[in-house]
Amino acid sequence: MARKIIIDTDPGQDDAVAILLALASPADIELLGLTAVAGNVPLALTAKNTRMVCELAGRTDIPVFAGCEAPMNRTLVTAEHVHGKTGLDGPTLPDPTMPLQDTHAVDFIVETLRRETPGTVTLCPLGPLTNIATAFRQAPDIIARVAEIVLMGGAYFEVGNITPSAEFNIYVDPDAADIVFRAGCKLTVMPLDLTHKALTSRERVEAFRAIGTPVGKAVAEWTDFFERFDKEKYGSLGAPLHDPCVIAYLIRPDLFAGRHINVVVETEGRFTTGMTVADWWRVSGRDANAHFMRDVDDTGFFSLLTERIARL
Ligand code: RIB
Ligand code: CA
Repeated sequence: MARKIIIDTDPGQDDAVAILLALASPADIELLGLTAVAGNVPLALTAKNTRMVCELAGRTDIPVFAGCEAPMNRTLVTAEHVHGKTGLDGPTLPDPTMPLQDTHAVDFIVETLRRETPGTVTLCPLGPLTNIATAFRQAPDIIARVAEIVLMGGAYFEVGNITPSAEFNIYVDPDAADIVFRAGCKLTVMPLDLTHKALTSRERVEAFRAIGTPVGKAVAEWTDFFERFDKEKYGSLGAPLHDPCVIAYLIRPDLFAGRHINVVVETEGRFTTGMTVADWWRVSGRDANAHFMRDVDDTGFFSLLTERIARL
């Protein structure tokens, strides 16, 4: 039975690969819609990029909704230095022709959760949590109806990637993240501690290219572009494919391991705003609210990803 999900996203090359993995896995995932949020690049671009990915996969039937263009209470911080000016630098893809839906992404999230049977819809945020938190604020009744939130965000042992202490998705909208982490939904977190173990390599990128399809070529060219930032910064041999870890977890949870612990979001720290304070050693006495992932079978992850991308 395919799992009903909404992907909330700020493409971003790694978001794009995550969306493709979901579209390539209809037996596992029923994608109800894609909601774009401001993050890696401004909303106009994330909403455009989301549609470009759908068209690349030949899936113009997937409804795409534009959401919040700025964090709840802060000025938007973007990441063109990582993803390029367009947010999807790498391959040259045609501008989308499929339309955006008229409904606001937040209203789509609220309406979908109110319509679908409680406990059957999983939310998969891959960017700042502004749309999700705004929906929870607007319609608190939907919180109990969420089956699970599986998100990419946060960091503990790996510390920050946008500041010394914060991961980008949480840092951009820490107030939204605080609302989501306190909401009480079943929560699974893919932090940098996990995604920094899902590294591309020359061989893995060439395996995407060797698929020989337009989708395989685009994925190879996105990862080629995307990996230069992390290789320069961390001296690593490849780039972390952050967001596809969320979708791979839905398909093959056995590839991942973590702990059920308390995780809170710092929203006022002078140097630590956006930090996810993960009580890995259970010293705080605070209740566990998150399944915080730390290990992945990266070989299994990349073979799943390559095999599925080849289906498109
Ligand atoms: O910190 C990594 C996260 O920030 C990823 O989701 C990437 O796409 C950016 O949104
Ligand atoms: Ca993202």
